Amino acid sequence: MNQAVKKVLVSKEEIARKVQELGKQITQDYAGQEIVATCILNGAFIFAADLVRAIDLPMSVEFLIVSSYGDSTESSGTVEIKRDFGVDIQGKHILIIEDIIDSGQTLNALKDILLKRNPASLKICTLLDKKERRLVDLQADYVGFSIPNEFVVGYGLDFASHHRNYPDVCVLKEEEYC
Ligand code: IMP
Ligand code: MG
Repeated sequence: MNQAVKKVLVSKEEIARKVQELGKQITQDYAGQEIVATCILNGAFIFAADLVRAIDLPMSVEFLIVSSYGDSTESSGTVEIKRDFGVDIQGKHILIIEDIIDSGQTLNALKDILLKRNPASLKICTLLDKKERRLVDLQADYVGFSIPNEFVVGYGLDFASHHRNYPDVCVLKEEEYC
């Protein structure tokens, strides 16, 4: 375990099992349809890379960068799409792949923007969900793990752009968050 880590919250083995489960469920739910797997950069890059390989459906993969205005640890209700879809999403089945939902404000605002483009459907798959932090009424359609209100890193998630490379989802030692 990296010396910056206080504890592992979700191990790489648990993540791997969950990714397979989610992939099976998504494959069943969308049977006969093509999806646009939509990775929200940067945090979801590892989860999306694993999840798309667990889904047996025709798909294209898109990468969005969304910035929410707020300070470093809290988001706000306003978002800007910094990198958008390379295609028109009208009539397509959009599956948003996100690392974590916290207040829910980022995805809630993104969802509003995307629904105006008339996709055939829009669903959200998040690896992690901090339900008790929710400030808006946003539910993910697929949730890997509900976690307590702790700031986590690893498996793509960062603190100050670091720690994304850890294979497990971890909580850092207090001194690392200063
Ligand atoms: P929300 O708009 O409050 O739901 O913010 C969600 C975004 O905040 C996520 O996509 C992450 O980028 C970031 N975030 C929220 N909680 C954590 C965490 O515990 N670790 C790393 N990033 C987090
Ligand atoms: Mg994110």
